[in-house]
Amino acid sequence: MPDIRRFDEFMDEALYGPSGFYVCGGRPAARGGDFATSVELGALFAQCVARYLDRTWDDLGRPDPFVVVEGGAGRGTLCSHVLAHVETCSEALRYVMVERVARQRAEALEAIGESQPVRAAPDLPDGPFVGAVLANELLDNLPFRLLERSDADWQEVHVAPEGAAEVLREAPADAAAMAEMLAPDAAPGARVPLQLKAAVWVRRALRSLERGRLLVFDYGVRRTTELAQRPQSEWLRTYRSQRRGQNPLHAPGTADITCDVAFDQLPPGATLNTQADWLIGSGIESMTAEARARWQQSRSNPTAETLAARTLLDEAAALIDPDGMGAFWAAEWHVG
Ligand SMILES: C[S@@+](CC[C@H](N)C(=O)[O-])C[C@H]1O[C@@H](n2cnc3c(N)ncnc32)[C@H](O)[C@@H]1O
Repeated sequence: MPDIRRFDEFMDEALYGPSGFYVCGGRPAARGGDFATSVELGALFAQCVARYLDRTWDDLGRPDPFVVVEGGAGRGTLCSHVLAHVETCSEALRYVMVERVARQRAEALEAIGESQPVRAAPDLPDGPFVGAVLANELLDNLPFRLLERSDADWQEVHVAPEGAAEVLREAPADAAAMAEMLAPDAAPGARVPLQLKAAVWVRRALRSLERGRLLVFDYGVRRTTELAQRPQSEWLRTYRSQRRGQNPLHAPGTADITCDVAFDQLPPGATLNTQADWLIGSGIESMTAEARARWQQSRSNPTAETLAARTLLDEAAALIDPDGMGAFWAAEWHVG
């Protein structure tokens, strides 16, 4: 029987332990999955990323090899679409899918096929290399600590071994100091996540680059203090079969546990854009111009092609929806 654990330890086990959600098959997919991601809606998001990689390859002086590392690659959907759409950098491209869960790595490699310049790894490569590191909806899934402001100080959320109950204990001084710095105005009862693993992942990714770019997409907020002002249920969420769940302590292993990313907890130096602005800047509107024209011309007498055009336009609309995925963040760091 495990002892009382910190929330991040509980979350690690619930997602990635032997009976963990991801280990036992939890997956993203637009249909039939547990949650939908930009990557799984179709190929448009990947087309924008492919265009970005072509541009980055040029900016970096056309290195060969051009190493692209994707963190949290899941079942390889972004990778396979990117390979299909990169143009100028395709000959130099060496793609590394980093995925913690062995079963997903195997599935991804099988889907992509052996002839492609792709390998899969359980962790970030050490580097140094010249290229790009990408991640879509990885940071929100890295286990985080949970702190609660009390009248006098900060408490840390732990999970009891039985009964899935929360236990509050006085937070260690370093964690309390961090929470105080990030959310100095937090009222008693307010909670904040401490996303140390996300910060470490970003730091390691930056260190692995001799020269290049780190680009991460995720939902979240600019500042932790914004989370402290909202109820925990709004920013710490669970998902299963496309449905929002409730208490993250309920039936561990049966649902995804995820948290809005507080970007002020990540290493400094990133340029933050909304996903909508990033995709528009990457040309999503020109990529859908033909579909838009086709839909306008034949919407009253639709053919299979007209309906395919409509599907593409719906995908673009979902990706840039200001009340949905369009409000996610694209954070980019430059190295060298
Ligand atoms: C929400 S899914 C996103 C998958 C994919 N990027 C997408 O957008 O559809 C997060 C993925 O990150 C993986 N993951 C979690 N921690 C990881 C780590 N430290 N390194 C690599 N992959 C990790 C999970 O197993 C899961 O497949």
